Amino acid sequence: MKVSLLQSSWESVECDALIVPIFEDEILDQPPVSRIEELLQGLVAEIKDSGEWKAKPGQLITIHRPRGIQARRLIVAGAGKQADFDAEAVRRLMMTAMHQLKDRGFRKIAAYRRSRIGLESAVQSAVEGLVLGSHQLDEYKTESKATGFVGEVLLVTDESLTEDSEAALRRGETLGRAVNIARTLVNEPGNRVNPSQLAEKARQMAEKYDVQVEILDERQMEEKGMHSVLAVARGSDEPARFIILSHMRAPQTDQPPLVFVGKGVTFDSGGLSLKSASGMEDMKADKAGACSVLAAMQAIAQLQVPVNVIGLIPAVENLPSGRAQRPGDVIRSMSGKTIEVLDTDAEGRLILADALHYARTLNPRMIVDLATLTGACVVALGHFRAGLFCNNEQLYGQFIQAAGRSGERFWRLPLDTDYRKELDSQIADIKNVGSKAGGAITAAKFLQEFVGETPWCHVDMAGTDSFAEGEELKGPTGFGVRTLAELAMSIADS
Ligand code: BES
Ligand code: ZN
Ligand code: ZN
Repeated sequence: MKVSLLQSSWESVECDALIVPIFEDEILDQPPVSRIEELLQGLVAEIKDSGEWKAKPGQLITIHRPRGIQARRLIVAGAGKQADFDAEAVRRLMMTAMHQLKDRGFRKIAAYRRSRIGLESAVQSAVEGLVLGSHQLDEYKTESKATGFVGEVLLVTDESLTEDSEAALRRGETLGRAVNIARTLVNEPGNRVNPSQLAEKARQMAEKYDVQVEILDERQMEEKGMHSVLAVARGSDEPARFIILSHMRAPQTDQPPLVFVGKGVTFDSGGLSLKSASGMEDMKADKAGACSVLAAMQAIAQLQVPVNVIGLIPAVENLPSGRAQRPGDVIRSMSGKTIEVLDTDAEGRLILADALHYARTLNPRMIVDLATLTGACVVALGHFRAGLFCNNEQLYGQFIQAAGRSGERFWRLPLDTDYRKELDSQIADIKNVGSKAGGAITAAKFLQEFVGETPWCHVDMAGTDSFAEGEELKGPTGFGVRTLAELAMSIADS
């Protein structure tokens, strides 16, 4: 799908379908709507008055054979309230419109700009939305249902275009594509993507986008003392891998790197602390943090962001077997801290313990980890906001600003010392679970043990890695990719 910008009036764009947003609270007698009303003899007002269509975000009406314009179809797109039409609303509208239009045989689609936000931000968000909406999850369908694909999209505006608007277009395209790559990868079932296969995908990406890659096998992990990752992997016949991706492109080559860490559990059965059968299939997505880190690294490399970034992915499969770790086992993590494993289903924090410790040895300026870590976080925040934990106010500020630009939503949760008591072990330095109370927080407190004083953000994305029940789009979201990329870009700028 090729996306380009066009300075033109909406009436003269030649295309199969032209999207024109119309607001819930706008008076229909001003341009461009007045002109549409003139051409369609008051149709929009009539449909609105009838209550059939309320211009709610994403509600589309298709006008066949519109008279007086060059487009073959006019898509009147509900855009909600004018005051709410920010970058995220633009992204969402383009995403839902594209999702609805993509398999209707239109080859060339155009969308007319009506937002009041800055042109660059509007272009980037619109393109991100279009790319996200065009995503297909049909890899395993032997016959595709789509009747034809959109080959070309034009973003149409009356304003004059600059190099900056072209750059915004490329940024939006790159970020949108990276998110879709994460979504495709998260969707891969456990029999298709195991730790070695995830590592292979990382290697392919790295070679294609000129990222340095190193993949540690179990022997190398053993030498480094990564027993906490290896303990989780024991129950599976599939060996663990530790993936290291580096993009070292800061102007001062010795700039301390930003380190991203992603939980890469390719399937989480719970291990001997076996999960119940219902919903276990969703645990193929327990590698979502890893996939987002991988995709963010790709976007950062593709956009040639002048910054040093390292991505770390501990990849394992968590299964029960005669070789699996047992509840009650004590392991020595890479940091030297001993961990009493009381629940083998709290495996994410175990693999992250070694990855975070490894991150510290890289002398980072900051560490950000992404993990589908706890069911407790889903209970606390549901599917629309990820849990965010941070031990440093300056980093928190930077992170939240990056999130503001990406449109991804977070909610800060506390790291008070009181919660740490839950993890006191009688026989080891720490145990891997506390009580049920505040489960997302005790998990974060566990991770904090392994970052020391390094500025660190932990994102618990257990709830945001797939669309909520009832949402139009289904499947994995690629959550985190855009915020990580925005964070890297803002650090490069500062
Ligand atoms: N991968 C799960 C967390 C999860 C739950 C992700 C639901 C997405 C949706 C994690 O490894 C896990 O099993 N956590 C346990 C921790 C508990 C044993 C302390 C949980 O949340 O139940
Ligand atoms: Zn688990
Ligand atoms: Zn898990």
